[in-house]
Amino acid sequence: MPFRGKLFFLIIGFLFLCGCKEKEEPTYTIGFSQCTGNDVWRQDMLRGMQRELAFHPNTRLLYLDAKGNSQTQISQIKELIQAKPDLLIVSPNEAEPITPIVEEVYQKGIPVVVVDRKTASSFYTAYVGGNNYEVGKTAGQYIGVALQGRGRVLEISGLPKSSPTVERHRGFSEAISKYLGITLVKTFPGDWEKNIAKTRLQKNIAGLPTVDLVFAHNDQMALGAYEVFKEKGLVANTKFVGIDGLAGPLGGIQMVNDGILNATMLYPTGGEEAIRTAMQILQNKPFNKENILSTAVIDSSNARMIKMQTDKILTQQEDIERQQKRNEEQIALYQNQQILLYSLSGLLVCSVVLGAWALYSSVERKKINKKLKTKNRQIIEQRNKIQEMAEEAQAATESKFRFFTNISHEFRTPLTLILGPIEGLLHGKADHLMVKQNLKLIQKNAQRLLWLVNQLLDFRKLEGGKIRVTATENDLISFIREIMLPFEQLAKKHHIEFKLVTNLSNLSVWFDTNMMDKVFFNLLSNAFKFTKDYGRIQIVVEKDLSLNCVNIKVKDSGIGMSEPEAARAFEMFYQGQHAANKGTGLGLPLSKEFVLLHHGNINLISEPNKGTTFTVQLQLGNNHFTEEEKTTSQVITGEHQLSKNLLEDASPVWETPTNITPQKHHVLVIEDHPDLRNFLKFTLQTNYQVSAASEGEQGLAEAYENIPDLIICDLTLPDTDGLKIVASLKTDLRTSHIPVIILTARTGLEQQVEGMQVGADLYLTKPFSPQVLKESVRSLLTNRQLVKERFSAGEVLHLPPTEGVTISKLDKKFLEDFKRIIDAKLPDPDLSVEFLGREIGLSRVQLYRKVKALIGCNVNDYIQTVRLNKSCTLLRQPQASIADVAFQVGFSSATYFSTAFKSKFGVSPTDYKNQHLRTEPV
Ligand code: FRU
Repeated sequence: MPFRGKLFFLIIGFLFLCGCKEKEEPTYTIGFSQCTGNDVWRQDMLRGMQRELAFHPNTRLLYLDAKGNSQTQISQIKELIQAKPDLLIVSPNEAEPITPIVEEVYQKGIPVVVVDRKTASSFYTAYVGGNNYEVGKTAGQYIGVALQGRGRVLEISGLPKSSPTVERHRGFSEAISKYLGITLVKTFPGDWEKNIAKTRLQKNIAGLPTVDLVFAHNDQMALGAYEVFKEKGLVANTKFVGIDGLAGPLGGIQMVNDGILNATMLYPTGGEEAIRTAMQILQNKPFNKENILSTAVIDSSNARMIKMQTDKILTQQEDIERQQKRNEEQIALYQNQQILLYSLSGLLVCSVVLGAWALYSSVERKKINKKLKTKNRQIIEQRNKIQEMAEEAQAATESKFRFFTNISHEFRTPLTLILGPIEGLLHGKADHLMVKQNLKLIQKNAQRLLWLVNQLLDFRKLEGGKIRVTATENDLISFIREIMLPFEQLAKKHHIEFKLVTNLSNLSVWFDTNMMDKVFFNLLSNAFKFTKDYGRIQIVVEKDLSLNCVNIKVKDSGIGMSEPEAARAFEMFYQGQHAANKGTGLGLPLSKEFVLLHHGNINLISEPNKGTTFTVQLQLGNNHFTEEEKTTSQVITGEHQLSKNLLEDASPVWETPTNITPQKHHVLVIEDHPDLRNFLKFTLQTNYQVSAASEGEQGLAEAYENIPDLIICDLTLPDTDGLKIVASLKTDLRTSHIPVIILTARTGLEQQVEGMQVGADLYLTKPFSPQVLKESVRSLLTNRQLVKERFSAGEVLHLPPTEGVTISKLDKKFLEDFKRIIDAKLPDPDLSVEFLGREIGLSRVQLYRKVKALIGCNVNDYIQTVRLNKSCTLLRQPQASIADVAFQVGFSSATYFSTAFKSKFGVSPTDYKNQHLRTEPV
């Protein structure tokens, strides 16, 4: 059976046990004052009481024995009262002396049961005992018959003042008075005790006449008399009659049976009856006040049978007592087991309670855990949310910072193109044309700055909610045509198919012309910015009657956007990944805000390398505008014209002065901004031969092709990062020697370090002074000249480094390889530029230009110099002939060697040899 099943039955069993238990009897205390306790009759009475009490286990018996002394009994009764008994049983020693104390107990409300002997009053609750008069009378009647009406009788009484003595004597006297032949010779007290009776009889027997029968008030005194008579040899003619008829070996029945007594009058002790009556009183059950026990004569005729019966009764009583004892033991065991069971049950209940508590706790804990988990999850969610918000805030702050950095950068190019020309105008000897060109450039860039500032202000106004639509009714078609106009030239220049696609000749739409001008100018600028030559840009205008709106689509076939770029295109400050996309990050968000202020919509679809389509949706009619948003006269701000001026074709045309003389050094400018590119070109062209590239890859190709003497490269290029261009230049053997100046709007130290790390020679930040630029170009080229001078000697590689003269590792290795190949191939008359180029991995021209740039002379001259220098060393050897030396340094003819030697050193090889043979020690 599973544990839970066992537990269930145990609990049910326990409850059943508790439920089946008899209604328990209250606990009682019964005090018992016995007049004397040392005779068998009284002992039998006590045993009878105890037997009866066995049925009342909760009742306690306080027993005191007065040992036949009335005073002792009085004080013992008082003692018992102190113990506050529920009931008192008194067997008075003598009636008179004991009566007051019994009355007192009775008056106090304590029930009193008087047993055997009586008190002198009826102030008691109940009486249990034999009828002593009747007993005396029965004895008298028996004696009358036994003596056949004639004879002398001696009477031995109990205590003279005890009630049985009085009543038994009265009954006896009455009975024998009927027999005239019977004489009571003497009555003397034996005080209920055998020995007292015996002693008194022994004293008096001599003075007594012959007696035929001794009648004693109890069997014990009768036995005493018998013994005295026996001593005197008088028993044969004397009969002995007693009272009590106790069973057992010392009792009267045995004495009759043994022939000691002739008869005994049964006088029951009443022990059981006394307790029974007491319990009835205590339990408030009906009871008899007088409980008189009956008597009977036991003589030789029935003694045997009675003995047998009483023996049996005694045996049974003994059995009962044994049984009782066992019962008591069982009860004790049961009680112990009960205690154990209760303890176990208690433990079980505790376990059940604890188990239930544990179960409850576990359920509660689970609930709490669940709650905690929920709380935890909420906290984590909140934390994540906060983290997300923090990240968003961080991203917003970062994009704001980036925006401000970028917008500052945006300012730098126009500032360069304002400050540079001003510097030129202030310092240069400008002619009229140059002044005009410079002023045009200044104006355009000041306008560019103004445009940027206006964008910033629009942004501020939008952020502060201060910008408001002022809508007027306009013809959308002609408005769009007007916006398209300034772009047409640009489209033509770049061979871009640019047109308006619509079947509407006009369409009345309410909008704020200043705002929509910015929106479409911005969308078209973007389209042109990202559409390559021979591409297509369209503006499609379609009416959507179902939605009562018009859709204006600006479609281009440009580079397009990636999905994430498209998703964030309208985000404030967001700049695309593509280098060329990096504008202010304001154009599209501002456009969107403007469209939203018109209660319209703007969205885009884009595919990388396919193109982008922006759709602006404007509602027809004017019900969607509030009264404040509608007006009849639009104020035209100057921004429309301003935007137009910013277009590429509005750039000043830089005219190259005709009087420029061809320059020695070639400078390559890689710059996407047309005005800046032209300005750089214009600034440098008086001193250098300048070529320009608008894209990185194009610049790189140009550099490889023409090996310029210096390169100026912008850091932000449309197709690639300027740093990558510099890195390519500096790691390519063809161009590694070329000094590079990086131009950038980024002023940060980190960017400068990055620039230097890829090998840039100078980092120039915008706005830069044209003078500083010119000076930087000059100083770098001078430095390169120093390197050349140093290396042109032919032994350069072994010289200590010269202050300010630097050479890259790549170039140093190039020179080492170059020299090593020449040294090894020196005897070969076919050692040529082509051979060296092949060995090193450069074309003839590239090798030529590189060597020229690094050493300042052409390759053939360099080989010739090395050959002739080496011949000097060989000529100094005494045994070397001129022809041998010429052969060893790669001259195919001794004559050509002599001519070349003389032209370089001013002496013929023979003279040189002779001079050195003389001067050098042999
Ligand atoms: C015992 C006894 C009995 C007698 C009774 C009378 O003490 O003497 O023998 O019958 O008392 O009270």
